[in-house]
Amino acid sequence: MPGSTETQPAPARVAYKVRRDPCGIVIFGATGDLTARKLLPALYDLACEDQLPDNFYVLGVARRPLSNDDFREKMRTAVAAHSRFGAPESERWKNFARRLHYQPLDANQPDAYARLRESLHGLDRENHTAGNHLFYLSVAPSLYAGIVEQLGAAGLARQRDRGRRWTRIIIEKPFGHDLASARDLDDRVQQVFNEEQVYRIDHYLGKETVQNLAVFRFANGIFEPIWNRNYVDHVQITVAEEIGVGERAGYYDQSGALRDMVQNHLLQLLCLVAMEPPAAFEAGPMRREKLKVLQSVRPFLRRELERCAVRGQYAPGTMQGQSVAGYREEKDIRADSSTETFAALRFEIDNWRWAGVPFYLRTGKRMTARRSEITIQFRAAPLQLFACTAMQPCQPNLLTLRIQPDEGMGLQVITKTPGLEVIGRSVQMDFSYGADFKSHTPSAYETLLLDSLEGDAMLFADGDWIKSAWQLVTPILEAWAEEQPRNFPNYPAGSWGPAEAESLLSREGRQWHTR
Ligand code: BG6
Repeated sequence: MPGSTETQPAPARVAYKVRRDPCGIVIFGATGDLTARKLLPALYDLACEDQLPDNFYVLGVARRPLSNDDFREKMRTAVAAHSRFGAPESERWKNFARRLHYQPLDANQPDAYARLRESLHGLDRENHTAGNHLFYLSVAPSLYAGIVEQLGAAGLARQRDRGRRWTRIIIEKPFGHDLASARDLDDRVQQVFNEEQVYRIDHYLGKETVQNLAVFRFANGIFEPIWNRNYVDHVQITVAEEIGVGERAGYYDQSGALRDMVQNHLLQLLCLVAMEPPAAFEAGPMRREKLKVLQSVRPFLRRELERCAVRGQYAPGTMQGQSVAGYREEKDIRADSSTETFAALRFEIDNWRWAGVPFYLRTGKRMTARRSEITIQFRAAPLQLFACTAMQPCQPNLLTLRIQPDEGMGLQVITKTPGLEVIGRSVQMDFSYGADFKSHTPSAYETLLLDSLEGDAMLFADGDWIKSAWQLVTPILEAWAEEQPRNFPNYPAGSWGPAEAESLLSREGRQWHTR
């Protein structure tokens, strides 16, 4: 009824981003790959966009002896290669580079932290940064707990002046190796920092299209009523990569696809698709709803594992006409490695919204194409009044949310094929970010760094979520570790993964849609 108060939408409760306090950013692992490829380019891009506080500095720390000038030169090369603003322009770069500093530091040496504290005091004074510090751990995960404890012992973890002078810490993934190690790490972190100081990064949450999942679901009134077991047949989440293990053998061969991608990125996507509407678009309510999803996922039972979990490893193959090596032939990979480079899983969520709706997740390296997508397949119309030709059976309604590349979304619907006969055919209604929005998309790291500077933890994982995610995947990890795969390698590089991944769906009369 027009004018009726019942039809008025509730006022939006939006968390406005207001705080850009001055601060010092301290990067542990400053000579590493992540700093060069992601962190420094993201900070430079933010500086170019005038998003950083007026007063800030970056202190890079790592073991290697470098001078400030060496570090600045190294970062200039990194920024030239990875910034979305291209080669650093001289005035802008000079202005940014003078805020970059470097201190050689062996993170295992307790006395190094007293020196770090001295340097920070000096830099705080020089740069008028008021004693606010953001620590970023971009080091080997085995060093996380030690660094956290040493920061605590050196008095560098405290919030001062009732939180007016803040200290925050960003911890890179992987946060733990299994449930026990994640619990141990979390306990040790919580001994030193309060939960609101800790930012556990999952860069997928910073991606524009992943942030859009919540907006798409909760800003549009038309999807929520059909977003449930009454209308949805099943959900597919694919994160396919073309790259192989590259230079990361040391890490990846100990990790594998389940730890590297499923426990974090894919489960975050699943939660964003399956969660209930939050009470507000803020960290606390969003985190609570996402945690509830994980708590409702049916645990994997060892005896059922064969039917709901598939692992794979790539063999040599051909990609874009080029021969590529198999996983076991890659540099520094053991010739008999049983690490999985592909995983496909069938999840069930035992709650009122999703009971009986399977969620199929898969991820792999060296797949045919780089493609990350979420597909919602809706139930068929109750009665087929219209024929589709025998050659082309009527396809179900599919909503595809394209995470990357070719960011956008598509809705597959059936329409009448023009002509004298009434024959249905599937067509796509399509939206593409590239065509509709001409503006630059910030990188995930830009978004996440800025959020952590503002004290907004919504796009970061909390400790309970991470532990629940490990709890879900740990039984699979254990079963796979105990039972060596008999058929590895079982998919050629450049394919969509092992045949068993197809059977996971085909035995239920379904098929993967992303090709
Ligand atoms: C990382 C994984 O977290 O995500 C990598 O460790 C993977 O193995 C990467 O390649 C994928 O990220 P993106 O942003 O390229 O999809």
